[in-house]
Amino acid sequence: MSERAVVTAGTGGIGLETAKGLARHGFAVTVVGRNAERGTSAIEEIAAVATAAAPRFVTADLASLDQVRALAAHLAAEGPLKVLVNNVGAMFTQRRQTVDGIESSFAVNHLSPYLLTELLLDRLQAAAPSRIVNVTSAAVKAAKRTFDAAEPPGGYYGFHWYGRAKLANLAYTLHLAERLRGTGVTVFAADPGGAATSMTDGTMTSPKIVSPPLRLLWPLVRRTFTRATAGPASAAASPSVFAATDASLEGRTGVLIGPGARPVPVSRGAGDPRTIAKVLELSRRLAPLDGAPGVQHK
Ligand SMILES: NC(=O)c1ccc[n+]([C@@H]2O[C@H](COP(=O)([O-])OP(=O)(O)OC[C@H]3O[C@@H](n4cnc5c(N)ncnc54)[C@H](OP(=O)(O)O)[C@@H]3O)[C@@H](O)[C@H]2O)c1
Repeated sequence: MSERAVVTAGTGGIGLETAKGLARHGFAVTVVGRNAERGTSAIEEIAAVATAAAPRFVTADLASLDQVRALAAHLAAEGPLKVLVNNVGAMFTQRRQTVDGIESSFAVNHLSPYLLTELLLDRLQAAAPSRIVNVTSAAVKAAKRTFDAAEPPGGYYGFHWYGRAKLANLAYTLHLAERLRGTGVTVFAADPGGAATSMTDGTMTSPKIVSPPLRLLWPLVRRTFTRATAGPASAAASPSVFAATDASLEGRTGVLIGPGARPVPVSRGAGDPRTIAKVLELSRRLAPLDGAPGVQHK
């Protein structure tokens, strides 16, 4: 029987290409997305390259913690899980909140993958050796390391708030790698570099996403963004596929796989013990593991 892999936000963009890569490696891939029509067309595309089991689609809006919990319960009931790729991520041009009343960048880029991972840990341990891959971004370098609340102090700048949420998730990734050392579950971060996807097409054309000093340099910043996100999603998926499958990573954990699909150093801030402690405290407060469905987490 094929081993199971789950790719969140796997019906489009980099996630779909990641799912195809894992299906080529013989995994029975489940992709998660919000839209059933895109889900159907994604599984057709994945099935066309799959070398073993047929792919499946599960609907969930990963901006809702209740839906993350329901998804985790559904996936857990299916048995051991060999690979979890937390690919979901989003950048917003304007400040917004989720149905749980939590700032959306923080919820989608960090709390959702945090909660899904924690709720699936025993299924991953049951399949050990198994791997968790958390998709990160170079935007972590432009992020504030303040994690007292979901929203950082100061004005809303989508790119920086996105980077801060990705930084929280990278700090959590490093923590989890250490926590799970010796269990057979290894944990990686994968930086896709950039690709032209619905996320970048919808956001990186607006100067509103960067802070006022960078807005003064907008033509230059925009050119940099355009160049960085010009490539295909298939190339941007290769760090995630490498992190999930490559034999050279056996026995390693807490490694960042860079855009060239090879290990690269992690920026020092992400591993700072105070940052990790703050991120964990905030994550546990906003997304309690025993939270009952329907509870509002402010
Ligand atoms: N693109 C880049 O240049 C770049 C650079 C660095 C890092 N990244 C990271 O790479 C990952 C993938 O990015 P991408 O550019 O491929 O994004 P994308 O184009 O927005 O991804 C599309 C996929 O995300 C799903 N999705 C979006 N919001 C969702 C939600 N709330 N719940 C469930 N599914 C949701 C979509 O499902 P529906 O169709 O059902 O909405 C679709 O499957 C993200 O973590 C992103 O932060 C991207």
